[in-house]
Amino acid sequence: MGEVAAVTRLLETTALSKTFGGLEAVRRVDFRLERGEIRAIIGPNGAGKTTLVSMISGRIGPTSGRVLFKGRDITGLKAWDRVALGIVYTFQVTSIFKNLTVYENVALAAQRRLMKGALGRLTLPQHILAEPVNRALAQVGLADVGEQDAGSLPYGHQKLLEVAMALALRPEMLILDEPTQGLAPEEITALSLLIRALSRGVTILLIEHNMAVVLDLATKVTVMDKGGLLAEGTPYEIETHPDVQKVYLGL
Ligand SMILES: Nc1ncnc2c1ncn2[C@@H]1O[C@H](COP(=O)(O)OP(=O)(O)OP(=O)(O)O)[C@@H](O)[C@H]1O
Ligand SMILES: [Mg+2]
Repeated sequence: MGEVAAVTRLLETTALSKTFGGLEAVRRVDFRLERGEIRAIIGPNGAGKTTLVSMISGRIGPTSGRVLFKGRDITGLKAWDRVALGIVYTFQVTSIFKNLTVYENVALAAQRRLMKGALGRLTLPQHILAEPVNRALAQVGLADVGEQDAGSLPYGHQKLLEVAMALALRPEMLILDEPTQGLAPEEITALSLLIRALSRGVTILLIEHNMAVVLDLATKVTVMDKGGLLAEGTPYEIETHPDVQKVYLGL
C-alpha cells in the first residue's frame, strides 16, 4: 500500500463476514473506499449488499472480520457512535414522520445527532437547530417547503427529505441503499444530480440496481455475488466485464 492510498483511504473492511443461521450472507469481504469517491455496489438480489453496508454502518454486527474507518478499528462501535464519526446510512433515518413538517423532520435528525441517537420530541432550542436544518434543506432544494407536512410531499421529494435528514447528521461518508427505488424518471434525474453535487463534500457509497444511474454517477463500481466481491472497476470495465454480464446483467 502506497502512502497516498493510506492518506486518502476512508474505509476498509478485512475478511468481513456475516452468517445468518447456516447462510453466509457476506463472505470474507475485503472492501476499500477512498475519500471523494462515488462508489456503486451492484449485484443480484440476495448478493449481500445491504448486509455489507449494514455492518459498515453498525446496524448489525459481523460474525467475523473488521471494519476500519480512517484507519481506526470501529468494529465494536454502535451505529450512533459511528454517526458521530461521520458514517451515515439512510436506513437509520429512512422513516419520515408524515404528520410533522419537513422542517421538523430534519430538526429531529439534527437533534438526534446532537443527543447521540436519543429519540424523542423536539426539545433543543431553535437557535441550535435552525442553522443545520436550513442548510440541509437548502442542499436538497426543499428550503421553500419547510412548513409543509412531510406526508403531503410527492414521493420524490420525500426521498430528498430523507437525504436532508441524513445530511443533518453531517456525514463524511453517506451510504444510500437503493435511493432511486420507486422514483419516476424525472425524480431519478433530480436525485442523481443531487448525489453528484453532494459528492464534492461527502464520500458516497451507493447501492443501486438502476444501471443507467450507476454508469452515470459512479467513479468506481463493486460487484457482489453470493456474499463475495465478484469484480471491481470503472463503470466501463464493469459494464464490459464478462463475469458481470453473466451473473448480473443476465447476458
Ligand atoms: N436478518 C436476516 N436474517 C436472515 N437472513 C438474512 C437477513 N438479512 C439478509 N438475509 C439473507 O442474506 C442474504 C443477503 O441479503 P442482503 O439483503 O444483504 O442482499 P442484497 O444484496 O441487499 O439484496 P437486494 O438487492 O434484494 O436488496 C439473502 O439471502 C438474505 O435473505
Ligand atoms: Mg439490499
